[in-house]
Amino acid sequence: MNIERFDHEDALATTLATRTIEALSLNPRLVLGLPTGRTPVALYRELRSRSQRGHVDWSQVRTFNLDEFVGLGAGDAGSYRSYMQAELFDHVRIEPLNAGLPDGRAANLAAECARYERAIALAGGIDIQILGIGANGHIGFNEPADSLAAETHVAVLQQDTRAANAGWFGGHLSAVPTHALSMGMATIMGAREIVLMATGEEKSAAVAGMIDGPITTRLPASFLQLHSRVTVMLDRGAALRLA
Ligand code: GLP
Repeated sequence: MNIERFDHEDALATTLATRTIEALSLNPRLVLGLPTGRTPVALYRELRSRSQRGHVDWSQVRTFNLDEFVGLGAGDAGSYRSYMQAELFDHVRIEPLNAGLPDGRAANLAAECARYERAIALAGGIDIQILGIGANGHIGFNEPADSLAAETHVAVLQQDTRAANAGWFGGHLSAVPTHALSMGMATIMGAREIVLMATGEEKSAAVAGMIDGPITTRLPASFLQLHSRVTVMLDRGAALRLA
């Protein structure tokens, strides 16, 4: 793993925005895997403002988000679709059909998971997968467990993960869905390149386990040790417990 440390999360976001735009200019048909959550907010802010200021060609870019809450979709407060529209898609010239998320409102969730896997494969696979990490070491919504799912699947959310997401639901834990659709571990590991961003001390134990600990289903991000092109971008807080 290639570990990079930054003094401040803004410097991390600026660096990753620069690299993403460089990758876009080298390959206008780039396939990007995208995360939600607090961590990438600064990255999306940077991508928006640079796209508005200068020429960034989003017209052929395809994106696939990691996950979506079951029961939620476009127009729903708290949905990852609404988050992505507000943070990025509404502000750049991406083709709506090229900005993919799993559909949390699909009538047949198993069929929707299979469709999402096919869509990623049809796009030629993910070139760069950007990830955040949960304080418990989850990536996407692949939660610590005795076993992990390979492909896009219906995930049962753990209580602490729902609590961490309550901020997107007016602080009401009861409003946070109990299930989500999430890319699986093989979906994520299938990306040609992975960039994981982590900020804040509350992520430092998961980050240390991911980098220095054993590979275990109890810390799903630890499987990234097996990928040959992973960059981990950390602020001071997230790097605090590294050897
Ligand atoms: C969420 C998402 C993840 C995200 C993680 C960290 O529950 N499913 O994709 O990376 O938890 O979120 P945050 O950046 O808000 O700490």
